[in-house]
Amino acid sequence: MTDRYAVIGNPIAHSRSPAIHARFAAITGEDIHYERLLAPVDGFVAAVDRFRRTGGRGLNVTLPFKLDAFACADDRSARAQAAGAVNTLRFDDTRTFGDNTDGIGLVRDIEGRLGVTLAGRRVLLLGAGGAARGVVAPLLQAGITGLAITNRSADKATALAAASADPRVGTIDWPREASADAGGERFDVVLDATSAGLRGEDLPLPAGWFAGCELAYEMVYGTGPTCFLERARRAGARRLSDGLGMLVEQAAESFFVWRDVRPPTAEVYAALRAEVDTH
Ligand code: ATR
Repeated sequence: MTDRYAVIGNPIAHSRSPAIHARFAAITGEDIHYERLLAPVDGFVAAVDRFRRTGGRGLNVTLPFKLDAFACADDRSARAQAAGAVNTLRFDDTRTFGDNTDGIGLVRDIEGRLGVTLAGRRVLLLGAGGAARGVVAPLLQAGITGLAITNRSADKATALAAASADPRVGTIDWPREASADAGGERFDVVLDATSAGLRGEDLPLPAGWFAGCELAYEMVYGTGPTCFLERARRAGARRLSDGLGMLVEQAAESFFVWRDVRPPTAEVYAALRAEVDTH
């Protein structure tokens, strides 16, 4: 019988995960069916239970449910523990296993596909929600020299920095306006882990944060260039990424968690990129 998987989130209509996993299944010969699941913002657990009762074997979890998914896992990988957030659920006989593949997906895309070495770099992370949490430990493991976290709600940035318990991690104030002074801060890589781009919302980012920046990276892949990427481009960031590569890499790692088979990603990424660029 075909095993069922899905991506669960709200909103979810834009998700490209079904196309990615269908391609992985075709390449590897794994017999899976993968769908989209829209859950009410206050109805995550009920939606997961229903999917599981009707034969679901695993889920990808996207915003705003990564913290709910962490809470509903019985067992968690070390990287999910470190993140305090889960983007991959696997339903074993009676237990639910939670993992987080966001961080490894981001690092593989930046270093493997884009060819940007993270060791020795200063990184700025915008946001402190479920997406941001997954990438802190993997960035530190990749050898970055500093990580500044900034978030609209300052308390969440402070808590995320404290949870890392690493002297390389600190916080900076969320800017009140785009014309704000960069405060003498310089970054090699700027990562947007907020969900603002998905809703077409702008962020008041000082141009100075991108001066001398090698890579501005949109972590929450959506439909088309976000205000973040537009600001980064105008402010002179040398390279821009819309996060499609991270999406493919984290999906491949989730596929491995579920099926114990590692799908190759180059062809799937190239096909998606061609499709996105022609629309
Ligand atoms: P995800 O799982 O994608 O991280 P989330 O946990 O809901 O989703 O977190 C969304 C993140 O985007 C948060 O850091 C949020 O900031 P707050 O903690 O202040 O809510 C950030 N965010 C969303 N919309 C934003 C906006 N318009 N301006 C600034 N930050 C925004």
